[in-house]
Amino acid sequence: MKLSVIGSGYVGTVAGACLAEMGHDVCLIDRDEERIRSLQRFQVPFYEQLLPELIRKHAGHRLYFSTDFSGPVRDSAAVFVAVGTPSLHNGEADLSYVDSAVREVAKIIRNYTVVIEKSTVPVMTSRAIRKVMILNGAPEGNFDVVSNPEFLREGTGVTDFLYPDRIVVGSPSEAATDVMSGIYAPLLDGSYYRREDIIVPPAEPRSTPQWIVTNPISAELIKHASNSFLAMKISYANVIANLCEAVGAEVEHVCRGLGTDSRIGEKFLRPGIGYGGSCFPKDVAAFSSVARELGYRFGLLQEVAAINAEQQVRFVRKVKGALWTLRDKRIAALGLAYKGGTNDIRESPALSVIRMLLDEGCEIVAYDPAAMDKAAKEIQSERLTFAATPYEAVTNADAMMILTDWKEFAELDLSRIRKLLKYPIVVDGRNLFTPQQMETAELIYHSVGRTESPVAETLAFDATKS
Ligand code: UDX
Ligand code: UDX
Repeated sequence: MKLSVIGSGYVGTVAGACLAEMGHDVCLIDRDEERIRSLQRFQVPFYEQLLPELIRKHAGHRLYFSTDFSGPVRDSAAVFVAVGTPSLHNGEADLSYVDSAVREVAKIIRNYTVVIEKSTVPVMTSRAIRKVMILNGAPEGNFDVVSNPEFLREGTGVTDFLYPDRIVVGSPSEAATDVMSGIYAPLLDGSYYRREDIIVPPAEPRSTPQWIVTNPISAELIKHASNSFLAMKISYANVIANLCEAVGAEVEHVCRGLGTDSRIGEKFLRPGIGYGGSCFPKDVAAFSSVARELGYRFGLLQEVAAINAEQQVRFVRKVKGALWTLRDKRIAALGLAYKGGTNDIRESPALSVIRMLLDEGCEIVAYDPAAMDKAAKEIQSERLTFAATPYEAVTNADAMMILTDWKEFAELDLSRIRKLLKYPIVVDGRNLFTPQQMETAELIYHSVGRTESPVAETLAFDATKS
């Protein structure tokens, strides 16, 4: 099928490349000329596994890049709208990019076209898109607006797209549903998975995706409800971790006990310094704000966000507990990205911890495998410097903090770290190590939701009293 994707951000680029991989002819459109030029040179503007390979594989054959809407959109059976929907100050999503993309589409289409809402948008946006289409001259019977929310995670976006748990289609008509099932046919009938040149599936076994067809409003709600639920699960795990610390329980054991109940599930119960990224904080705020507009006070979600913010403050207190005073302490910060496997620093809990410690007068030496350039632009402080390796970062530092769950941090040579640090103190906000590993390496270890080793307990200062 001929398809267009408007918006070459994270969701749009992954969707465009994966749709080409599934066998469609795709044009990825963006008004940002620089971005389109770099994609034409196979340069992906963000760090995402497998995406450069897919772009190299399909660019020029099935995948094209353009700044011009008219030709590709006119020829497409369906147009995916995947432009950004950033948060406004009041938590509402800013839909002006969706509005302007849809206005262009309305003026261009000639034959029946399905306009697919792919960006995460508040419930009832599909109705607004329909109105904008009509106001801008698209005849009513000539288009349908479908909500087809995306559940991909940064870092594993390509496999999440090609091996999804479910495909949700909020469609107002049979004609639109037919177009959607044509688009996803290679995944639904399994023909993609039988090809020889496929992207290798993720490690955990997955069955053929569930095909969930509903009306557009319900599909929009599924997206909000899913992301907010996952954020709620993380905040829940963080509260459990805090209670574990208070009573001397082990959070990993407790969460395993919780998660192995198949009604609860083990995923997204990892405690730490909270969730970040471009989705969870924004979606929790947007869902609360939608509920408020509808006259419902969604106190549960407000608490989810409050617990998340508090988790970062608690971590800073933990660092203070390990070091007694913070002013002029030199602290190595391993991790800047909001999670491992990405260079994205949007709403990163790591940066919020670093900001708080800079405010307390600390000197921070940071290292991240992918996010240092972005972080350097985001936080400008004489007391924040960047190191070329994790070992350089810890050299002569008063303590080492782990703020992002990068795989390479879990593989660090701890005896080397022990020799380089001024004091053998590690404060781990992602529970990447076991207390036993740290004890063997003779490092004093503080982590989240676990009992402290006797030596860590003896040597910690009670930050609440100092
Ligand atoms: C529950 C727990 O499921 C079980 O693990 C525990 O050992 C005892 O308590 P039970 O009360 O028998 O079991 O029934 P359950 O099916 O879990 O439902 C409990 C209540 O929640 C019922 O009133 C049910 O109607 C309600 N419920 C359940 C919902 O409102 N929504 C649901 O999705 C599930
Ligand atoms: C999320 C959703 O998972 C995805 O379905 C949606 O389409 C976009 O938002 P993403 O933001 O890319 O994806 O990352 P995810 O892996 O979900 O992690 C989000 C944040 O939660 C990260 O900061 C991560 O470190 C944190 N997290 C995740 C935890 O703190 N604990 C967990 O158990 C899981």
